Amino acid sequence: MPSSHIVELSIRIAQNTTKVHDFLVSRNLPGPSFDENAPQTLLPPDTDPDIVLAHRAVIDDCRELRMLMLGPREHVMSYQANDLVSQKAITQFRLAHAVPIGGETTFADLAANTGLGPTHIRKLLRHAIAHKIFREPRPGVVAHSAASRALAEDAELHNWVEYATHELWLAAYHTPDAMQKFPGSGEPNETGFAVANNTDKSLFAFFSDHPDRLARFAAVMRFVTKRPELGPELVVDAFPWASLPEGGTVVDVGGSHGLVCFELARRFPQLHFVVQDLDEPVVRHAETQKPAEIAGRVSFMVHDFFEPQPVRDADVYFLRAVLHNWSDTYAVKILRALIPALKPGSRIVVNDVVVPEPGSMSDAQDLRTRTSDMTQVILQNAGDRELADWMALFKAADERFLFRGASPMQGSTRLWVLVVEWDGA
Ligand SMILES: C[S@@+](CC[C@H](N)C(=O)[O-])C[C@H]1O[C@@H](n2cnc3c(N)ncnc32)[C@H](O)[C@@H]1O
Repeated sequence: MPSSHIVELSIRIAQNTTKVHDFLVSRNLPGPSFDENAPQTLLPPDTDPDIVLAHRAVIDDCRELRMLMLGPREHVMSYQANDLVSQKAITQFRLAHAVPIGGETTFADLAANTGLGPTHIRKLLRHAIAHKIFREPRPGVVAHSAASRALAEDAELHNWVEYATHELWLAAYHTPDAMQKFPGSGEPNETGFAVANNTDKSLFAFFSDHPDRLARFAAVMRFVTKRPELGPELVVDAFPWASLPEGGTVVDVGGSHGLVCFELARRFPQLHFVVQDLDEPVVRHAETQKPAEIAGRVSFMVHDFFEPQPVRDADVYFLRAVLHNWSDTYAVKILRALIPALKPGSRIVVNDVVVPEPGSMSDAQDLRTRTSDMTQVILQNAGDRELADWMALFKAADERFLFRGASPMQGSTRLWVLVVEWDGA
């Protein structure tokens, strides 16, 4: 008797798809489509949470059903090494920008405009079209699909794909080689990224010698920060900021463009903020982006978080998505560099990923967790931590870091808030 699991999955997919469909109908929203004029996201930001869950369940269950239906051999073979070739070409040759929105062009024109051979252009486009990027309304004619239009119109998305295909892809390929060459390493310059780039520098050091690539990386960070589960506005309710004293100071260590502090400054007028980052162009650019109404209470500073913290006696030192970029050896150094500045009662607020214990997640959540962790391995020989790892990290940094608790950040699927208090006299 075959397992009824596939039938259960298909029924659940049908039920949840119906929920999403009914929601779209009730809001008079268009349904999903590959059409050039289709909406770029299916659900609006104010969608009811149970519809968001139903939507996620459809995606996750379809993946499981597909794997089961393929069977193990076909499943293993279904990962195609060349899936990203046409995406890399699209960003490298700006193919999405070369096709008019609402219009058409020909393969021959694209070949002439890009300088690529007509055969290569045809093969690249048809590979992309097989992935629903572009359409071929008539043989040899190309027009936009929803996805290629998104690449043409959304510079941040285009930049993200360019980063994924130009940086991550090669670094990922070389990661097993790096693991073989540097067994068990937690060094950020002994990674797949370092091997791929034939360098003995870490990613951040390497990028500081390559301003264009640094700018692309910084833009990816900005883009990722805007994803709903990482939204700076979620930090507002993640800690009792209102309980900090009048004139209190929050230092955002490795704070990049300062988007979190902009949000906090708007909501908590009694507080002052210092945003620190090593990346000077980012800091200088961020300074020009300060909204006028909070400009007096948010300052930016170039600071290397491995050096002693220069802003003394702040109430909170905030580290968001920073420590997961570093192995324990380096994370301990970052925490210890805060010590000279701390006053008794200063809090270290860490806003970062906490990995649920193995076996406690759905398959889909597990995949997302492992994918994000692997990205840190590829780039930095670092990774995400379980709660016990975090507690051990604070203890290893200094016994006077008192762990005061941790909780998932409301609205985020991955980030938690961990609070540590400095007990030093
Ligand atoms: C993953 S990003 C997180 C940025 C920000 N906290 C956020 O949540 O959007 C890590 C940040 O650490 C910064 N960084 C890397 N090495 C640093 C160092 N040695 N000192 C200070 N900042 C550093 C990077 O420039 C980057 O902005």
